[in-house]
Amino acid sequence: MREIFDAYQFVGCHSKFFDRMMTRADLPARLLLKFFWGLDEQAYQKFLTQAFAGIPENFSGRLLEVPVGTGVLSLPVCKNLDGAEIFCVDCSDKMLDAAKLRAEQMNLRGVKFILGDVGNLPFADNFFDLVLSINGFHVFGDKIAAWSETRRVLKRGGIFCGCMYIKGENCRTDFFVKNFCEPNGFFSPPYETFASLKEFLSNRYSRAEVSHVESFAGFICVK
Ligand SMILES: C[S@@+](CC[C@H](N)C(=O)[O-])C[C@H]1O[C@@H](n2cnc3c(N)ncnc32)[C@H](O)[C@@H]1O
Repeated sequence: MREIFDAYQFVGCHSKFFDRMMTRADLPARLLLKFFWGLDEQAYQKFLTQAFAGIPENFSGRLLEVPVGTGVLSLPVCKNLDGAEIFCVDCSDKMLDAAKLRAEQMNLRGVKFILGDVGNLPFADNFFDLVLSINGFHVFGDKIAAWSETRRVLKRGGIFCGCMYIKGENCRTDFFVKNFCEPNGFFSPPYETFASLKEFLSNRYSRAEVSHVESFAGFICVK
């Protein structure tokens, strides 16, 4: 757990580099995304669409995003959710600082940023209408607690959606994850496969749709 925290404190201090990677902002980012993650322009756009597909148009209600990271992918989406009450959680104060700065620069008011652990969320049971988790479940150290807490805080009928890495879809990605992301604390095993994730979510939620683009699974579940 300490390793993961330290890794993302470091990323938070170099958030511009992380943001460039996450958004395919320049040629090195595009080459890295294509080579290690199999994501060219078209696949990257599909990845983004899949990640946020669970948020209904004109959603208004309480939304939890965990982990928000620097908010590079999610805050532009949040900007369009006028009627929503948005809470963003991350365990790294450096990542959260970058997200807060981005929100300020975007003039995005009313979003609450909370330093916290997904395994011990500071919210009452059934508090949220929607829980969004982008690129979190391949990172979290205590995945059992993370699955349990994200479900506990969600209302019956509420939506749990987002995306995560799954193994077994692209050998180059799996190699990179095992030999770079994991030893450096950016990812932590065990990882789901497409089939195991589908089965797991179907058993925990009344409805679960799982798709994937390369090694990224998108999920939309209803509690
Ligand atoms: C790969 S980043 C994803 C950030 C963002 N969702 C995105 O896609 O750009 C993973 C994030 O998970 C956070 N994180 C790791 N373990 C956590 C935990 N137990 N509770 C809350 N956040 C955690 C890290 O600090 C980091 O910001």
